[in-house]
Amino acid sequence: MDIKRIGILTSGGDCPGLNAIIRSVVKASALKGWEVYGIPYGTDGFVEVAHGKYQAEDLLLTKHGYALPGMLKGLDVLQFLSGSVLGSLSKGHPEQPDIAAAILKGYAMLDIEALIVVGGDGSLDIIYDLATKGNWHIIAIPKTIDNDVPFTDLAVGFSTAVDIVTQALYDLTFTAASHERIIIVQVMGRDAGHLTLHAGIAGGADIILIPEITPCLTPEVIRGCCDQLVNLRQSGRHFALIVISEGVHDQNEQKNKYIADYLAEKISQTSQHLCEIKDPSFCDLIDLDIRATTLGHLQRSGTPLSFDRLLATVFGIKAVELIEQGIYDQVVIWRNGQVEHTDLQPIIGIIKKCHQENRCAFPVDKDGFMVKTAKSLGIYLGEV
Ligand code: F6P
Repeated sequence: MDIKRIGILTSGGDCPGLNAIIRSVVKASALKGWEVYGIPYGTDGFVEVAHGKYQAEDLLLTKHGYALPGMLKGLDVLQFLSGSVLGSLSKGHPEQPDIAAAILKGYAMLDIEALIVVGGDGSLDIIYDLATKGNWHIIAIPKTIDNDVPFTDLAVGFSTAVDIVTQALYDLTFTAASHERIIIVQVMGRDAGHLTLHAGIAGGADIILIPEITPCLTPEVIRGCCDQLVNLRQSGRHFALIVISEGVHDQNEQKNKYIADYLAEKISQTSQHLCEIKDPSFCDLIDLDIRATTLGHLQRSGTPLSFDRLLATVFGIKAVELIEQGIYDQVVIWRNGQVEHTDLQPIIGIIKKCHQENRCAFPVDKDGFMVKTAKSLGIYLGEV
């Protein structure tokens, strides 16, 4: 039997499903008699190896496993847990020559044949450069609640995050209705609107604002929001839910950490103004309470849903299979309900270009079926 030594690391912001990936890689590899080394805190782990903090033996997941004590001994709990048992690194400095050199040294000291990199677009970009310098064999597994990795329909973590935001919208509906309030929910996703759009539809939002359609909150967009709220009121609905992606900018095209609060204020000001210039239908909005809620990191840390566990597991198994076949520098992807793999290099090319141009590498398709669905439901998307 060909005994392989492989490594795995998780990099970038955590998300539900990372542990399920690690578990599936370790299980499948152990059955083949391979050794899997878990690199702590992304590429920082290699630096620590280079500095002597860890010996290869300390990182051998196939030996240490994650045993639980007492009656729980033998319980395979890892896939249920969010976060990453390996830790993740969202801000390393591998571009610094001394750090890059230490990473390459640590990698070489472990003497691994291939590395499974679990990361989003930023991490894949950075690690690809290191891999090129060090002649590493890598297999990438896409993960991110933002779902902005090109070529894959889904990244691990996205489905659970959609569910968390959807549930939050459901929960907020009743307080909004009881107080006749407009509740604005600020959703993560960086410069991609997938999370906001999916959860907005599933959670019954009346207005969905995403950067792909509403890059900034112009007076026209605010006016559109007010119109939608008036229409709802006239139809007998005395509350409303708005979801806004954190990637939507303010009127001055500036990123605003509190974009939901900004929108609340603008809706109040605009309805006041419209009421004063004698459009009485807007006077009704003035007395409405508007509240902004930011879900923050709650969106990243929930128990992974069964679908994310499955996706994570399938991706992990596929990565091991590719290594077994000696097919490297690939990214495993989910397309049309199937696991596939494709060359990493073209994806990195797209990611790099988009980063340089300050664009999202895999934005929401403005003409896609999700946007069409939202529009068909009468949801206002900010289009003027
Ligand atoms: O990329 C995942 C993500 O959660 C984004 O949606 C969000 O903008 C960012 O990470 C938050 O990063 P941090 O955890 O460093 O604040």
